[in-house]
Amino acid sequence: SENPTALIMIFGATGDLAKRKLFPSLYRLFKRGKLSERYCIIGVARRELTNSAFQESVRQSIEEAEGHHDDLNEFITHFYYHSHDVTDSSSYLALKTLANDLDTHYQLEGNRIFYLAMAPEFFGTIADHLKSDGLTDVDGFKRLVIEKPFGHDLPSAIELNNRLRQAFAEEEVYRIDHYLGKEMVQNIEVIRFANAIFEPLWNNRYISNIQVTSSEVLGVEERGRYYENSGALRDMVQNHMLQMVALLAMEPPIKLTDEEIRSEKVKVFRALKSLEGEAVKENFVRGQYGPSNKNNEPINGYRQEPMVKADSNTETFVAGKLIIDNFRWAGVPIFIRTGKKMATKSTKIVVQFKDIPMNLYYQHEKTLNPNLLVIHIQPDEGISLYLNAQKSGDTMNATPVKLNFSNNSVDHMNTPEAYERLLYDCMRGDATNFAHWDEVALSWSFVDKISQVWENQQAEQFPNYEAGTMGPKAADELLEKDGFHWWPVE
Ligand code: BG6
Repeated sequence: SENPTALIMIFGATGDLAKRKLFPSLYRLFKRGKLSERYCIIGVARRELTNSAFQESVRQSIEEAEGHHDDLNEFITHFYYHSHDVTDSSSYLALKTLANDLDTHYQLEGNRIFYLAMAPEFFGTIADHLKSDGLTDVDGFKRLVIEKPFGHDLPSAIELNNRLRQAFAEEEVYRIDHYLGKEMVQNIEVIRFANAIFEPLWNNRYISNIQVTSSEVLGVEERGRYYENSGALRDMVQNHMLQMVALLAMEPPIKLTDEEIRSEKVKVFRALKSLEGEAVKENFVRGQYGPSNKNNEPINGYRQEPMVKADSNTETFVAGKLIIDNFRWAGVPIFIRTGKKMATKSTKIVVQFKDIPMNLYYQHEKTLNPNLLVIHIQPDEGISLYLNAQKSGDTMNATPVKLNFSNNSVDHMNTPEAYERLLYDCMRGDATNFAHWDEVALSWSFVDKISQVWENQQAEQFPNYEAGTMGPKAADELLEKDGFHWWPVE
């Protein structure tokens, strides 16, 4: 089918996300013939820039990501720039005139995508103006793509949502969770629902626990101001981690349509047992990295980072035990863990199967290793299955063997591709891999109860893990209480 055409307005066009992800992703779509020949992008940001200066910065960011290509000269001529004041109607009216002219010039059929890739405090204001100043009066479709954070907690998320919904219907709002654009996150569904050997076992009769880890090596870098008000719980758990859990735990959808998938995911969030007071302390662990000096390489602790308070109570690490109270999952803990300045950059899911009823191979090995299914999300992409088998010549002894499938991705930079996929989905009107309001609301209500406990009590032991490690000891103890341990993620 023909590629959809649209005018894409990027608010925050001089920002980091636009440069590192959005421009290169648009170019890749163009390269793969997935962008209609009739496309046009308006970069919107505060600073004064000419079209040609903006086009040069677009070229530069694409070249940094993709190298030099001759067709870039032509590609960037479709980029325009509007210097914008987010609170001033006349600025929106000028933007509207530009948009309408370009719409005619490129025959964009009145299709419009508004991409908010900027400071969240302006999301509401911009949406108000888009409507009141007439930018949303179009003949074609209008869609709002909105980056995280979607609110700071449930009340602020509701307020933001109500405001956006004055200008856009729910099905016109595309809430980005870039983890949903990752190849192997999308693959969770395929692995589960396209294989006869997994789905029958995918329940509390055969699975003992699931572990979802997303560890980062980087610290908060220049984002101290944002991160101080966020912390790992809001930054990673409320969105990415819970979205992965929903995909792992949901029932098979009736069909692979966005409504069907969303409605199954929402049921998982509804079954997620909410934790309050003491239960938070029993099931959740918070951590903050402290300085380290391994190999004489001094690394800052979180409290030494720019824009961070010297006695900060903000968590840079979270581990938690999630209980999904439904028929399929009762009794199976789902452990999650994420943090900054950890030992390795890795996102992985480990599904640990229950032990077989009796071990006939005790002679040489004390215990058998459990069967594990590992879904590698990044940096490597693939799946591994750990089985027990007999090594040649070694009778009566079962040894773990690993079946490996590596999804040799085009390159190892997974993230820009996530954006590429999500941009394309939005242009086609497929909202499957975006967060629906119901999911966002339910995950905030889960997370809010935890942050209430944490915010009301200074974490006395902070910092409690050394930069470059896999987190505080309490995160290991969390699993040990249940007789489990974290499987290594490297
Ligand atoms: C973002 C968070 O949503 O995800 C960042 O705000 C985090 O703090 C990032 O670093 C991790 O994404 P990825 O794709 O690198 O795992």
